[in-house]
Amino acid sequence: MIKILSVVGARPNFMKVAPIDRAAAARADVEHIIVHTGQHYDASMSDAFFRDLDMPQPASFLGVGSGSHGEQTARVIVGFEQALAEHQPDYVIVVGDVNSTIACALVAVKAGIRTGHVESGLRSGDRTMPEEINRLATDAIVDDLFVTEQSGLDNLAREGHDPASIHFVGNTMIDSLHYALPLARQRKKAHELGLVDGAYALVTLHRPSNVDDVDQLRLLIDVLADVSTRIPMVFPVHPRTRSVLERAGLAAGMPPSIRLIDPAGYVDFLSLMQSAAVVITDSGGIQEETTALGVPCITARTTTERPVTVTHGTNLLVDPVPETLRQSIHAVLDGVIVFPRQVPPLW
Ligand code: UD1
Repeated sequence: MIKILSVVGARPNFMKVAPIDRAAAARADVEHIIVHTGQHYDASMSDAFFRDLDMPQPASFLGVGSGSHGEQTARVIVGFEQALAEHQPDYVIVVGDVNSTIACALVAVKAGIRTGHVESGLRSGDRTMPEEINRLATDAIVDDLFVTEQSGLDNLAREGHDPASIHFVGNTMIDSLHYALPLARQRKKAHELGLVDGAYALVTLHRPSNVDDVDQLRLLIDVLADVSTRIPMVFPVHPRTRSVLERAGLAAGMPPSIRLIDPAGYVDFLSLMQSAAVVITDSGGIQEETTALGVPCITARTTTERPVTVTHGTNLLVDPVPETLRQSIHAVLDGVIVFPRQVPPLW
């Protein structure tokens, strides 16, 4: 019997671990437990995902909460060291690129426990993104590198990793998508909001570079408000974004053609995504999900760590400056930009 411990911390981690948990549960020779660091803790950012993905309750919840990068990372390190001593796993899995990923990898590797990173090798090349530092640092220390796309293989080779440690395994986030899609299609969340399938835009924004600065956020909201006279929008608002929108009075001034809603659960969000005309986002994972679904996606960022979504999928990377963003959204809605779509290998 081998005991595997997987770490989840923030919203984008849950769907990456759920398929691993199901695969482990199907084997008699594996015991799999989940430790939740509590980096995300609101019901809408965490509990809803465990429910929607049929995940078992975590064996430990570290309750680290929010804070500066240093504080949050440090609290995960302290809490996870204790959790490892308690659970004594043979193997640790960390996923994605959040602060919990690097913090737990650091603790596990130093405790001499073999550790694997799921979603290894992705690189945006932008070291001002906290996630980029987390990716580089995690891959530098773990034993096994589980890769989702060709660029990951190329990056890890360039960085000189041992080829024997690199495994091209596909994409567990997309495994979760296919698991929940039948339910998401039945859910018809758009209809609940009075929207018509294929005739609305779905918006998410939460990258610090887009939302922490009020002026930048205001520019983006102005573009969305303008385009929403053509197509209605639904915007599930991340807590980070919500606080800036409210502080700047932008939430109160939002036109009725942009529906601000609370962060959506996994199935609700998937439901909104699969019947959207276009998705406008700065998320990492949504670029992959829209690629798998074949839904046009405009990513309001200058770089992506997931280039396969641009070369194979439906993702258009757009510099988040007003005129460029506005023209790109119109071009996609007009059908001027078409996407030669191909599902990436193993997704
Ligand atoms: C984190 C990840 C980011 C990921 C995102 C998905 C890092 C460095 N960043 O960013 O990669 O794309 O999660 O959501 O790990 N808050 C709540 N409730 C919660 C969680 C957060 O109200 O459940 C608020 C807090 O005020 C907090 C802010 O949201 O200060 C931002 O949360 P934080 O965990 O610092 O970073 P994210 O922006 O969520």
